[in-house]
Amino acid sequence: MGGIFFAATGLVTPLADADAARAATDKLALAEQSLCAGSGGDSTIQSLENRPPVSPEQAVAIAAGDALFKGNCAQCHAVNDVVVGPALAGLHKRRPVSWLIPWIKNSSKVVASGDEYAVKLFNQYQKQQMPSFALSDQEIRQILAYLEVESNSGMTKTSAVALN
Ligand code: HEC
Repeated sequence: MGGIFFAATGLVTPLADADAARAATDKLALAEQSLCAGSGGDSTIQSLENRPPVSPEQAVAIAAGDALFKGNCAQCHAVNDVVVGPALAGLHKRRPVSWLIPWIKNSSKVVASGDEYAVKLFNQYQKQQMPSFALSDQEIRQILAYLEVESNSGMTKTSAVALN
């Protein structure tokens, strides 16, 4: 386990379209507040599930999440395929937002905390460690909203790691 701390430092510079999304994000502050009301849990994200027509605010947040995902995550992740990291389809069903936000900001810290799921995942994908991201909670929620919509657009759910 000596290697855990090592790769924790790589702070990924967001690519150009992520910067654009960041600018858009400021304008979105109000829309996002309503999308993310009840900031403590994943209920908002999950509640998107049975509402196929998304509101304009949600559509804008999802578009921002799309750009953030492509700029920061897509080199290692796809929704339905394992790339460098696990397929992210069905993520909203297996991990709460309260776990995902700290994970995406600094996965090594979550692994180092002894979190059972994180340790298993890290061991399973130890060839490549996920970098840390200087994204805001709001930006991460936008990425998660995008991933949920993508997950629901068909295809099978995959499980990254089995507990028990
Ligand atoms: C350099 C490659 C890389 C990049 C870039 C990357 N990840 Fe990862 N990600 C991984 C790896 C590898 C894992 C598996 C865990 C480990 O090895 O630490 C992982 C695991 C995850 C998990 C847990 C998946 C599960 O099924 O439980 C989530 C969520 C995740 N990444 C989200 C993201 C998001 C969101 C971004 C962009 C902001 C991102 N990742 C960028 C490599 C990457």
